[in-house]
Amino acid sequence: MSLYRHCLIKSMNCMNVSSSDFSRLLHRKSALRCRSFSSLISSRTSFDLGRSATRDSSPNKDYYYITTPIFYVNAAPHIGHLYSAVIADCLHRYKQMRGFTSKFSTGTDEHGLKIQQAAEAAGKDPLSFCTEVSEKFKSLFQSSQISYTDYIRTTGEQHRRAVEHFWTVLYDKGFIYKGVYEGWYSTPDESFLTESQVADSKDKNGKPIKVSLESGHQVEWMKEENYMFRLSEFRPALLQWLRENPRAVRPTKFYNIALQWLQEDLPDLSVSRQRDRLQWGIPVPGDPGQTVYVWLDALVNYLTVAGYPEGHSQWWPAARHVVGKDILKFHAIYWPAFLMAAGVPLPQAIYVHSHWTVSGQKMSKSLGNVVDPLERSQQYTADGLRYFLLRQGVLDTDCDYYDDKVIKLLNSELADTLGGLLNRCTAPSINPEQVYPSFCGLCFPTEYVRGSSERKAVPEDYRLVESVSRLSAEVEHHFENLQIYKALETVSHCVRQTNGFFQRHAPWKLNRNNPQDRRWLDTILHVALECLRVYGTLLQPVVPMTADMLLSRLSVKPSRRGWEDLNFLTRYQGENCPFEGRTLGPDTGILFSRLDRTEKAECKPKKSKKVK
Ligand code: MSP
Repeated sequence: MSLYRHCLIKSMNCMNVSSSDFSRLLHRKSALRCRSFSSLISSRTSFDLGRSATRDSSPNKDYYYITTPIFYVNAAPHIGHLYSAVIADCLHRYKQMRGFTSKFSTGTDEHGLKIQQAAEAAGKDPLSFCTEVSEKFKSLFQSSQISYTDYIRTTGEQHRRAVEHFWTVLYDKGFIYKGVYEGWYSTPDESFLTESQVADSKDKNGKPIKVSLESGHQVEWMKEENYMFRLSEFRPALLQWLRENPRAVRPTKFYNIALQWLQEDLPDLSVSRQRDRLQWGIPVPGDPGQTVYVWLDALVNYLTVAGYPEGHSQWWPAARHVVGKDILKFHAIYWPAFLMAAGVPLPQAIYVHSHWTVSGQKMSKSLGNVVDPLERSQQYTADGLRYFLLRQGVLDTDCDYYDDKVIKLLNSELADTLGGLLNRCTAPSINPEQVYPSFCGLCFPTEYVRGSSERKAVPEDYRLVESVSRLSAEVEHHFENLQIYKALETVSHCVRQTNGFFQRHAPWKLNRNNPQDRRWLDTILHVALECLRVYGTLLQPVVPMTADMLLSRLSVKPSRRGWEDLNFLTRYQGENCPFEGRTLGPDTGILFSRLDRTEKAECKPKKSKKVK
């Protein structure tokens, strides 16, 4: 039976209509179908706009608009939430460095049954409850250096207006109709499920229950009069969009999953709930007996921030959404279909990340293994936690979190290798004048000349120069491919190479009073500081405070920290170096303190030794 027919019969049953009424209804239904198809066709113009927006040649080339999912306020933030935000923040900072005007939006998703129930359980009125938890997210983001430009709450007035407008457009174009939804609903996921998406299970008392196959959450049978969205009509257009834009959903693994979903029928989607069941939400315009479905409400947040309905033309074509894999269907199927129906262009891309498990297990309140990001960022510092998440996180596979892994990684890469290098090149014993010393072309000639009397550089040193000269292009490539971990791996490899260079030439053994030794000593320091300058500049999107400390110590002004300032070792290429001869910035201490394990497998910062 066609979906339309099915819904009509449901509607009839609930309205008690006769068979002659049914044929009249069918007739009206086909008229409505024609109307909705013609609206679909007329919205094709906008759909074309949507497709062109997914190409890199978007009209607003210099604008970049990145979003995180908006977070449910039924529970406190955990490490997975911070991960979504850190990825978006890193891309936002990177794009700003590349000269883009970037907007970065995050916020909280405050409507829906589960929030209503959580507020009830806490004995609070829903809005105060939402405000309290929303503030927790905000303060986590502030202390984690998440440099959002917009923080949206779905309980805000501007958002309500955007949702009402969006709904009205869909309704007026005939994409929303009233029917009866009968099927499974998962409140924790705020999601409607088909029979094939649920499985038999038992609750903790052994009572048989049904659960969502995807999330494992218990589902309930629901039958109510709802507004339905004609999702089924959009399957061909969604397929076309994805086929023509293979980079619209990234990484490819998730693109393929979205394509796979479109191989099967797409049932129409319920987009409202009866008000008597759900009060905590936006009333359906023109029908106060119904509340807008929380996911339709939530997805519109991206448009609200862009200025919808009046002023979104500047930002919207530059939109990219960072989302976790569990909410891919909402973003790669429902959202594009809603947008096509409303005649709004599609976002440029959807960047999908996998999940964090904890010591091999799914993170969950019931297992008691939820990692508190605020507590961890106090232990490891905000930059430490950011570095760990981005260095270990791989978008297309789940990653495992455990404290020992964090401690080992941060001690090795930030404290010992990067911090150690800075410490060694700026220590008063080796650099008593506290300057960015001169480079001597005779000690490190451009061409490797065998047997030259002043040349001190050896073949490995040339390999170092080659690696660091290539580094910004490599980092750029990895950032653009959303492989931040690879960018950090490449930087880390170069930092190790630089430490090897320093160790190899043991500048502490050179005699400062011997002019030849002095020239080579200064050259070693110059090369190492140039390397550090490049690393500090490239690391800004990932560890902004550590990078700032490093660059300030090297006396690199904020105006000289852009991508265009990355020119490495210009003296080696026979050009001037703007930093040569400069006094270093004041010593503000250890770049990154080593972390120590306590008996409780926790850790605390330990005093690192500084070279005097
Ligand atoms: N409110 C919806 C999103 C609406 S967007 C229009 C929602 N909220 S959430 O709070 O449940 O999740 C927000 C983000 O956190 C999602 O991207 C989700 O994938 C991510 N994570 C939740 N658990 C996670 C892990 N264990 N690991 C990594 N990210 C995880 O969904």
